[in-house]
Amino acid sequence: SRARTPYDVIGKEKLEELVDVFYTNVALDPDLAPLFPDDLTETARKQKQFLTQFLGGPPAYSEEHGHPMLRARHLPFPITPFRAEAWLRCMDDAMDETGLEEPFRSAFMERLTQTARHMINTTE
Ligand code: HEM
Repeated sequence: SRARTPYDVIGKEKLEELVDVFYTNVALDPDLAPLFPDDLTETARKQKQFLTQFLGGPPAYSEEHGHPMLRARHLPFPITPFRAEAWLRCMDDAMDETGLEEPFRSAFMERLTQTARHMINTTE
């Protein structure tokens, strides 16, 4: 048997709900929406796969898409410090809206904050 992972703590259903609410928020954010496709179905599907493995669940993203190389995959998009904060705000709101509980919530947000800052690739 394996150790209990953060993925086990949140569970598949709650993670999927979180991602769906997150992209609803992104679509309504005037600073983020223009970067994304109009139809966020595929984006949300990939993010569910990515966060599954990010949280120690099965390697769903890598099995289909290879190594995440997240910073490289974001280079086509101008990610400013302002947009990174907007992304994190959409996620924080999604955590409110889905009732994510502590201490999982803060630990997850901490890791997402580091990753979002790592995606910044332009100052303007
Ligand atoms: C894809 C924006 C941070 C994970 C994308 C896409 C955009 C984007 C525009 C392309 C969507 C598409 O074409 O379907 C941003 C912005 C961020 C940010 C503005 C602010 C910092 C993050 C973070 C993570 C993440 C923190 C992970 C924790 C992903 C994944 C994809 C993606 C997994 C799909 C990559 C693929 O095409 O395979 N992001 N992102 N992003 N983002 Fe981000």
